[in-house]
Amino acid sequence: MNVVLGITGGIAAYKAPDLVRRLRERGAEVQIVMTSSAEEFVTRTALQAVSGKPIRSNLWDKEAEAAMSHIELARWADMVLIAPATAEVMARIVSGGAPDLLTTICLATEAPIALAPAMNHVMWSNPATQSNREVLEERGIHIIGPEVGSQACGETGAGRMLKTDLIAATVFNLTGGKGEGLLEGRTVVVTAGPTREAIDPVRYITNRSSGKMGYAIASAAAAQGASVILVSGPVNVSEPPGIDMVNVESAEEMYAATHEAISDADIFIAAAAVADYRPTDILQQKIKKNNEGMSLELVRCPDILASVAALDAPPFTVGFAAETENVIRYARSKLEKKKLDMIVANRVGRDCGFDYDENTANALWCDGEKAFPKSSKVDLARKLIELVAEHFYAVSASETQPKLTIISNND
Ligand code: PMT
Repeated sequence: MNVVLGITGGIAAYKAPDLVRRLRERGAEVQIVMTSSAEEFVTRTALQAVSGKPIRSNLWDKEAEAAMSHIELARWADMVLIAPATAEVMARIVSGGAPDLLTTICLATEAPIALAPAMNHVMWSNPATQSNREVLEERGIHIIGPEVGSQACGETGAGRMLKTDLIAATVFNLTGGKGEGLLEGRTVVVTAGPTREAIDPVRYITNRSSGKMGYAIASAAAAQGASVILVSGPVNVSEPPGIDMVNVESAEEMYAATHEAISDADIFIAAAAVADYRPTDILQQKIKKNNEGMSLELVRCPDILASVAALDAPPFTVGFAAETENVIRYARSKLEKKKLDMIVANRVGRDCGFDYDENTANALWCDGEKAFPKSSKVDLARKLIELVAEHFYAVSASETQPKLTIISNND
């Protein structure tokens, strides 16, 4: 895949060399086009070293234009990605102005365009920027992120550029679906994130799940050409583009949304950390404290995964098992008890699993197992989806094989 990577002048430009590496790891050819303000934040030398190509920046550079003109560059691109994308470049693309090489390519290309905005959170929420975002999206330009978090200016809010591996995965996701993906034409339902079980109008029971693992799984399935429905509990992860989102809060809502989505699904992957118990009654008024202790009466929440696996014609069903001890043994027992096709066991605790960007896992199925050493959740998700696709087709093939009838002459 040929990617024109536009880099504009924001502090997040210092992450651009890493983004180039992530794109190249996935097999992309990357041609960098940087604006003059981007050069204030990251050097040409670093970018040239990681991309392996001379950096383009000047529309009037006769030598570079003679080698590949801006129109040829616009045609060469399978994707134009701008990361970081400042408020200024968003406004310029909206206006149709083309005062520099990067915006000229944006006007001249027929390739998909994606922007990964990065800016101070007040700039991002400014009505002008939000209206530009809306116009860009209406025109089919993909907006990847930004995410919520601490910013270079010392403040916290929405405006931080998405992690480079997530941007790279999303770009491949957007350009996927060309008939080459492993899950082309398949529907995958994924659950992600925690659930919240209300106690009273202001309190709830929840857990540490961030949604990162489930969202990475959903993106990886979409990158392989699947239509993906992501049923998500409340998280702070940006919605992956090209995926149908269903946002829920409680385990019961997640159960209902999953069953609504599952009828046409080929594969179901339950990465959510669903509450096992919820308060028996949700109090209508805030509970007042007194000097005594208190206890909460809890009842079981529906087990979404087990209920999907128990359907008459279940999809290929993959569970996750979050364990703090005896990880493989407990996961295998869940695989068998819930009658799953596969389970992904991961150790969770104070230093791994929930909320971390990395994960270690073992995928288990009835007569086999595969270990995945520690890697980013994005990379782990990509490998898991490849494994799931392989097993899904093996199971489908065995189900569609004509049954052998043995006719014996010796009776
Ligand atoms: O979200 P992150 O911060 O990225 O963290 C990822 C993760 C640790 C949450 C994820 O990798 C993971 O392990 N998810 C499953 C967590 C969990 O609830 O595990 P469990 O062993 O309690 O549940 C087993 C399986 O049953 C899971 O697939 C779960 O989705 C499902 N389940 C559980 C309870 C319930 N009421 N309904 C369910 O469907």
